[in-house]
Amino acid sequence: MRLDKVIEEQLQTTRKAMKRLFLMHKVIVDGQIERNPARNVDSQLHEIIVDGERLVTQQVYYLLNKPFGVVTAKKDGQFQTVTELVAPIDFRAELYPVGRLDRDTTGLLLLTDNGQLGYDLLQPGLKVSKTYQAEINERVTEADIAAFAEGIIFDGGIVCQPAKLKILATTEKSSKVELTIQEGKFHQVKKMFLARGKKVTALKRVAMGPLVLPADLAPGDYRKLTVQELQQLKIYFR
Ligand code: URA
Repeated sequence: MRLDKVIEEQLQTTRKAMKRLFLMHKVIVDGQIERNPARNVDSQLHEIIVDGERLVTQQVYYLLNKPFGVVTAKKDGQFQTVTELVAPIDFRAELYPVGRLDRDTTGLLLLTDNGQLGYDLLQPGLKVSKTYQAEINERVTEADIAAFAEGIIFDGGIVCQPAKLKILATTEKSSKVELTIQEGKFHQVKKMFLARGKKVTALKRVAMGPLVLPADLAPGDYRKLTVQELQQLKIYFR
């Protein structure tokens, strides 16, 4: 959450009084004088001391195993949405999905009410990696691996950044692969394989940045990020 909002809410200050606290060097984050009111903080990760008082934030971070058929949105006229999978006790109005998985894609999705973190994780410049396991309708070859490493070009000329493709199993009729990309174009994985004349028949995200889909998290289930997982996201708090 933005540091200036935390101060205004918790210390019930006016905007002017909050700005004054910064000018008077009364805002200390992790032992350092903080001058940036817009910086993103979470008291689980940062020690926030303002005018001698320790402030506490209440943001939530859920790791969801998105099931097939559910849409990555807050509301949808037709289908169940990912935020509707969250139990009333864990629900927050500001909760939203970080990034988008297609309705027929399953796997790891981060839900949070820390909008600033979600926004930053999706910035192309940060190159947060996403790893997918995919089933493909035919043999995937060394030539495909080389083309992905070179940078796939979509129909229409859009060039993708180099991507790491690994073959897990392959036959004439189907393949299982793992693909790591560092961008998030619309339907990117499906379009990358289409550019090679192949079709994705199942797609599951297994990792995003430092977060890995836990093997024991069933589709439709979610859990809070552990302290260690949240610590690994600290570098993205700006
Ligand atoms: N790429 C796709 O094609 N679909 C997804 O849901 C995610 C990445």
